[in-house]
Amino acid sequence: MKALKNTLFFLFFCFTTDAFAQNVANTNLSWWQEARFGMFIHFGAYAVPARGEWIKNKETLSTAQYQKYIEEFQPEDFDPKKWAKIAKQAGMKYAVMTAKHHDGFCMFDSKLTDYKVSKYFKNRDLVKEYLEAFRAEGIKVGLYYSVIDWQHPDYPHFGDMMHPMRNNETFKDKKHNFDTYIKYMHGQVEELTTKYGKIDVMWFDFSYGEMKGEKWKAKELVSMVRKNQPSIILNNRLMGDGTGKIGDTEALGDFETPEQGVPEQPRKDANGNIVPWETCLTLNNGWGYTADDNQWKSPELVIHSLVNCVSKGGNLLLNVGPDARGNIPTQSVNILAEVGKWMELNSESIYGCGASELPKPDWGRFTQKGKKVYAHIMNPHIGHINLKGYHEKVVKARLLRDKTELFIENTWWGDLTKDNVFINIRKPTYQHYNLPDKINTVFEIELKR
Ligand code: GLC
Repeated sequence: MKALKNTLFFLFFCFTTDAFAQNVANTNLSWWQEARFGMFIHFGAYAVPARGEWIKNKETLSTAQYQKYIEEFQPEDFDPKKWAKIAKQAGMKYAVMTAKHHDGFCMFDSKLTDYKVSKYFKNRDLVKEYLEAFRAEGIKVGLYYSVIDWQHPDYPHFGDMMHPMRNNETFKDKKHNFDTYIKYMHGQVEELTTKYGKIDVMWFDFSYGEMKGEKWKAKELVSMVRKNQPSIILNNRLMGDGTGKIGDTEALGDFETPEQGVPEQPRKDANGNIVPWETCLTLNNGWGYTADDNQWKSPELVIHSLVNCVSKGGNLLLNVGPDARGNIPTQSVNILAEVGKWMELNSESIYGCGASELPKPDWGRFTQKGKKVYAHIMNPHIGHINLKGYHEKVVKARLLRDKTELFIENTWWGDLTKDNVFINIRKPTYQHYNLPDKINTVFEIELKR
């Protein structure tokens, strides 16, 4: 009888935890799913014109016209140790920096080209410096690498969907040999994954139209990366149109990458299981430094977005676009500092947490780690919160920021239903009390298991 009870308890435990747990089949992902919050860094010569990293495309600049920016790019203040401290203080656990963006200009000392920062700026390899500085702060390191290349002569130009010279008749008769480009691109990825020590994340960007999958020789590329870096994790953008559904047999990456928004629902595979996903967001509207863009997101919006992601089993990769001198814009630094203050008191409700077994409440969101549920009270709300259906299933509740005991009541006047559990910072719980953090007060609630 006791054995049967234990088995039933075990099955119940498996169901209740697994049903809401992430897909952790790939153990390389476990640190990343624990981390939840990372810094994206778009840094390159496009910081000089300061009109975003797509400037070459948008203003249809030839490589010759773009050259002045390459030469002017002298980021004298570049000090990745400072950046790493900013990331760490914000509570970010990993970072991904652009090693090469679509403009083709390399931020590392590639032996395969002269189109690289080390040739123009004091022989410096900015990727190497970034990796060392972030590792020294205990932050996991990733590299963004654009498979698109608007400088390489063997990348499709005239008639391509994206290339700056797509409509330029003088490029019509220029021949290109795409195999040569693929060899170059694979060669650079080989350099990045063999000469720079342990790389934790490789972030490829991006596929479009016919330019996807085997056009990139993606299988070969991915197996080379995994051979060179057995514990690396990869995003999904080598497959069609940035989808690369995780869970599909053809998916070559480990996690999905929505961008500039938090998905309405968790990303799921065909069987309804949450797949690993990470959304990337900018702090204003630009990835690369955009001088006249003042549409900064508030610290509140950033915190709410982070919680929103975690409550759906996802990660947030939050972007900074350092300027041409190598400084992260002051506005970004200030926002991140505010986020850091909240994280300092509340990160337990973020790290290692995922979607909750409880449905989304009106007043905010739940995150959960095992038997601990975190109630993020983010919207205006009167009185107590109610975990309907959890009557006598709550062991205790604390205010996360200082671990103060909270009050739990199972009944309320006028409501004799037995399945309520009311929680508030004072008694009687049905009264309204102002919460200590207007942006997001977190209640830590321990469930009976
Ligand atoms: C898009 C853009 C690119 C940016 C990326 C970040 O793919 O092309 O500029 O780096 O999104 O996700």
